[in-house]
Amino acid sequence: MFTIGLLIGYASINAQTVTIPIETENNVLLLQTDPENRLRTIYFGETLSNKNEYLSVSDLFYFDEENVGIYNSTYTPSGTWNLIEPAIQIKHADGNSSLELKYVSHKVEQINSNTTLTSILLKDPIYPFQITLFYKVWKHENVIEQWTEIVHSENKSVLLEKFASANLYFTNKDFYLTTYPGQWAKEMQPIETKLSRGMKTVDSKLGARAMLLNSPNFVLSFDKPASENEGTVILGQLAWSGNFKLEFEVDLYNNLRFISGINPYSSEYLLPANEVFKTPALIYAISNKGTGEASRNLHSWARKYRVLDGQGERLTLLNNWEATYFDFDENKITTLFKDAKNLGVDMFLLDDGWFGNKYPRNSDKAGLGDWQVNVKKLPNGIAHLMKEAKKEGVKFGIWIEPEMVNPKSELYENHLDWVIRQPERPEVYYRNQLVLDMSNPEVQDFVYGIVDGLFTENPELAFIKWDCNAVIYNAYSAYLNKKGIPQSHLYIDYVKGLYSVLERIRIKYPKVPMMLCSGGGGRGDYELLKYFTEFWPSDDTEPIERIFIQWDYSYFFPSITMDNHVTDWGKQPLKFRIDVASMGKLGFDIVASGLNENDLQFCKKAINNYHAFKNIVWHGDLYRLLNPHENDIAALMYVNADKSSAIVFNYLVNYRQRLATTEQPVKLNGLNPNKKYRIKEINLYPGTKSQINPDKVYSGDFLMKMGINPVIDLQRTSVVLEINEVK
Ligand code: GLA
Repeated sequence: MFTIGLLIGYASINAQTVTIPIETENNVLLLQTDPENRLRTIYFGETLSNKNEYLSVSDLFYFDEENVGIYNSTYTPSGTWNLIEPAIQIKHADGNSSLELKYVSHKVEQINSNTTLTSILLKDPIYPFQITLFYKVWKHENVIEQWTEIVHSENKSVLLEKFASANLYFTNKDFYLTTYPGQWAKEMQPIETKLSRGMKTVDSKLGARAMLLNSPNFVLSFDKPASENEGTVILGQLAWSGNFKLEFEVDLYNNLRFISGINPYSSEYLLPANEVFKTPALIYAISNKGTGEASRNLHSWARKYRVLDGQGERLTLLNNWEATYFDFDENKITTLFKDAKNLGVDMFLLDDGWFGNKYPRNSDKAGLGDWQVNVKKLPNGIAHLMKEAKKEGVKFGIWIEPEMVNPKSELYENHLDWVIRQPERPEVYYRNQLVLDMSNPEVQDFVYGIVDGLFTENPELAFIKWDCNAVIYNAYSAYLNKKGIPQSHLYIDYVKGLYSVLERIRIKYPKVPMMLCSGGGGRGDYELLKYFTEFWPSDDTEPIERIFIQWDYSYFFPSITMDNHVTDWGKQPLKFRIDVASMGKLGFDIVASGLNENDLQFCKKAINNYHAFKNIVWHGDLYRLLNPHENDIAALMYVNADKSSAIVFNYLVNYRQRLATTEQPVKLNGLNPNKKYRIKEINLYPGTKSQINPDKVYSGDFLMKMGINPVIDLQRTSVVLEINEVK
């Protein structure tokens, strides 16, 4: 007899074949036990109309003739029959390192009409050691979140050496993988590779600022390179803010094994009996219609179910970082409030440099960790600044970097044991600073106290920018040493400590918007975005570079989570810079009082326009129209839910050849073919005239099949079009 999990709900130990379909609206991950009661992934692909036919799938595949492992094991153990890359590797309490995992039972919970949670229990037949695989499915969005829980009742602790979140298996002819390496101010640089036999690994060992050089985001495309509007693709991310590892291995059958989780590097974990070790989640969106649909689904999932206040509002702002750097005083800051008001933004953000007295924070060499207001720069404190900002009708936000310390600080002098460093070795600095030991509960209290103190003293504080500018060198914790906990727990306990502080902050301050920053995009993942409303994708605000960076982040993150500031980086005109920054949450980091009259008028007008269309950018559907990696023009558009309004952004990105006028129209997308629309160019710089006829009426059908020519040339390098339905 067969048991179909999804229909039955529960199934218990038996030697019969158990089939478990994990179904989204369009796709299925099909799991099945074999005669030995081991669980295998037998199929990934489109859902079948007749569920009973899932039972016939395994008859069609033969992947077993090589007797070195079960390539499609759903969670591959090690030390017994398996000689290929494992998902889990352990040492039992008695030192034995063999593990077998057999199916015991599974359960399907219907959380609501759109969400199910399937959990599958696997046990070692010899040792009291078990794991549970979790698959949370958002059916309509075609998004799966997958994680694993490990628990045992052996007589001593078990050493976890590898503990993947997910172990997937895809049968196909060809696989194309896009990964996103980067570096400071050059985040998310995509590389697409056709996978061939062997292993492709993407990982980080940097600790705190884990995503500086590699990203835990990936695109997997089946049969051919990923494309925007057709083909089967998976857009995924390991949602973990520390060291991660993604392993893509094409096996001897040319199938793809994919194992991902916390990086096992230097991270063996001693698990006491009856304590649950929960891995981070692998989150992925699946689409059979290309990366465009997968992104829109992931965005909509993120806004609805994941990001803090994902369906809410965001604050436009003026930031003083690039306007003043560390060189400011009360006077300078209060004049900036007037600038913020004059521009028409919601908030002023006071950046780095406001703290430290014995070691004033006048450069990045001192003061980090001493979170007392610098009395010389700001003699009347933050409360006074907030009062002044309020007088101008602007909100007030503040920068902190609470997990870090300069050796030149009172914090370092008083709490050397809170600092991650090798006691016997010379210190190694990144941006002249060291990382605090977030595995230590006292440090967690200290970090929590920084935020809590700021809010207690200034209840009207409207925003926090939480920075993290260093990697972890010389990984060693005095706290773990004192407690007799292995040092190899540090990388993991650091991240857990960070999450637990954020959890506490959010219990007391559930709503205040917080920006996640890490010297640019060193951080930004769906675990941290449970606590943060937005993130800072890169310090690189040069607008052409920025178009690429935002484009590549846009595969994974909705625009409402991305903070884009207008700065003085690069040579592009102000209009170009503002247009680019408007594709997300708009901010300014310029000396507004230094703008000439035209620029100032333009700024005010563009901010006004932004306030009018921001809801479409924040909550609408994104359609990537022309890829800057492949075209001289980049174009993308946002469409509101009922397809009555849209905003289209068009930019010249290639200046190498002299472009006359865009020869071809840009085909729009996401409109209603049966609706009629008018197109109006907005964000026109004073003294320039639009080339777009605002009176002409087009059908959605025409705009999507033929398109519209934005008339880009060397004088018109950036064109924003507003599209509205004509009733
Ligand atoms: C990092 C951030 C910047 C700024 C500085 C302050 O580099 O990315 O935006 O806040 O720190 O030191």
